[in-house]
Amino acid sequence: MNILVTGGTGFIGRWVVGRLLRDGHKVWVIDNLANSSIENVNEFLDNKNLQMVKIMDLKDRESLHELFRETTFELCYHLAASINVQDSIDDPETTFNNDTVATFYLLEECRQQQVKIVFMSTCMVYAKASDEHGIDEQSPIKPASPYAGAKIAAENMVLSYFFAYGLPAVVVRPFNTYGPFQRTGGEGGVVAIFIHNKLKGVPLNIYGEGTQSRDLLYVADCADFVVEAGYSDQLNGEIVNAGTGKDISINQLAELISKEQVPIHHIPHIHPQSEIQKLLCNFQKAEKTLSWTPKVTIEEGIQQTEQWIQSTFHRKEPFKS
Ligand SMILES: NC(=O)c1ccc[n+]([C@@H]2O[C@H](COP(=O)([O-])OP(=O)(O)OC[C@H]3O[C@@H](n4cnc5c(N)ncnc54)[C@H](O)[C@@H]3O)[C@@H](O)[C@H]2O)c1
Repeated sequence: MNILVTGGTGFIGRWVVGRLLRDGHKVWVIDNLANSSIENVNEFLDNKNLQMVKIMDLKDRESLHELFRETTFELCYHLAASINVQDSIDDPETTFNNDTVATFYLLEECRQQQVKIVFMSTCMVYAKASDEHGIDEQSPIKPASPYAGAKIAAENMVLSYFFAYGLPAVVVRPFNTYGPFQRTGGEGGVVAIFIHNKLKGVPLNIYGEGTQSRDLLYVADCADFVVEAGYSDQLNGEIVNAGTGKDISINQLAELISKEQVPIHHIPHIHPQSEIQKLLCNFQKAEKTLSWTPKVTIEEGIQQTEQWIQSTFHRKEPFKS
């Protein structure tokens, strides 16, 4: 197939691109590099099926339209977004424009060419898990931050194009994802930040009490899930979750990563009002419809991530973290 990946030089995007190329598809990547580096796709640049890595902002409607005029896509994975909760609280307009408005522009192009779209939403749209059954696709949602609000708005637009125009569309909600290529600074995730601090010998800082929990999904498992959701015809017009079915508190995560090598500190939460206390995924729907299950344990995933972060310290051109 001819496949477009937006946000394809980003952390999860580059793993999605890798899987699609391994599956033999022709892949076009667009990204404005706002939160990523072209280096993330370096290892694919020699692949003859990688058609284009275009540095482009999705809000540039003219260029987007031209791309869809030039190329007939069969599938579009839409991962480009502003992803930081705190940034969305400080500057909601940027997140709204990148996550909702840009999604609308892309949807319009997909509608005109009848291109199936996989919309990358997030577990951050949910209210907290209330029991060990975990969060399934029927669980209550809550726009606790402008990031979650913008994603919910975009999800609804995507699904409306399925109902109103019959556009094949699926909304995927992966839980918190970690692994190699995630940024290790403020724009990254908790696992990358903790490992980076451990390797640098500086304390791990936990916001609040550290009792908040996350269901941490290894990035290769996440990418497989996202890609397979696009291949399936069963999920059009639907929402589907992916996670591991196990959650870990941030206190436990810090201990697992630190291994008593660096101190663990608790500091005041920067956005307590937008914190989700318990995120635990119920992924039965993905298992049933896609035969997808996560393969990598948290211990293996942390090891892989640590090896990768360590390797970036020795590069001649430092990885932008
Ligand atoms: N990381 C997670 O834990 C997680 C979990 C669930 C869902 N998601 C979602 O997955 C997607 C990818 O997230 P990620 O963690 O890889 O983050 P990321 O920041 O690495 O990837 C997003 C990419 O989109 C690009 N981008 C942003 N705005 C753009 C615009 N207007 N035009 C073109 N490109 C633009 C960025 O430069 C970046 O490369 C996002 O939609 C995010 O909401 C992430």
